[in-house]
Amino acid sequence: MTVLVIYESMWGATKAVAEAIGAGLGEADVRVVDVGEAEPVVPGDVDLLVVGGPTHAFGMTRASTRANAAKDHPPVLSPTGVREWLETAKLPAGLACAAFDTKVVTPDLPGSAGKGIDKSLRRLGGHPVAKPTTFRVHGKWDGLAEGEAERARAWGAELAATLS
Ligand SMILES: Cc1cc2nc3c(=O)[nH]c(=O)nc-3n(C[C@H](O)[C@H](O)[C@H](O)COP(=O)(O)O)c2cc1C
Repeated sequence: MTVLVIYESMWGATKAVAEAIGAGLGEADVRVVDVGEAEPVVPGDVDLLVVGGPTHAFGMTRASTRANAAKDHPPVLSPTGVREWLETAKLPAGLACAAFDTKVVTPDLPGSAGKGIDKSLRRLGGHPVAKPTTFRVHGKWDGLAEGEAERARAWGAELAATLS
């Protein structure tokens, strides 16, 4: 089983979630890739595609929100966003997929990048195997909240179970 996990991350929290999901996927051949390194065409040998990013302004990041992030607290990690990747991506028909995001614990704001990613993956012909899932961070750049890395690992194991 081959799994591609594509993440976007300003300060490392979403990257940490992506890596924990990858660890939870267990025996699979897992490739965890920054969106800046991800090819637009998802290879035919991929069995599951997982895409995640930070929630900015109630949804997926935009160039303007990433510029704000880079100005507020440099440096940032990902050179581009999952929104832009999804605009040109090509998926094998019916590919199993799942979306996730990160959001702050407080305030508990509406909206999430994961919902937008899920919608885009469906538009591209993907077949979601899980509901879009949010993992919580402290403040904008203060890292994952307690227990969230473990929750991400468990979610990775749940995703793996949908494929067997
Ligand atoms: C410009 C900007 C807008 C944000 N908007 C939201 C938001 O609408 N809701 C929310 O819960 N968190 C929001 N956040 C916090 C991010 O979700 C948080 O910085 C992110 O999850 C951290 O992950 P990262 O280290 O992978 O970038 C925002 C952060 C920035 C920089």
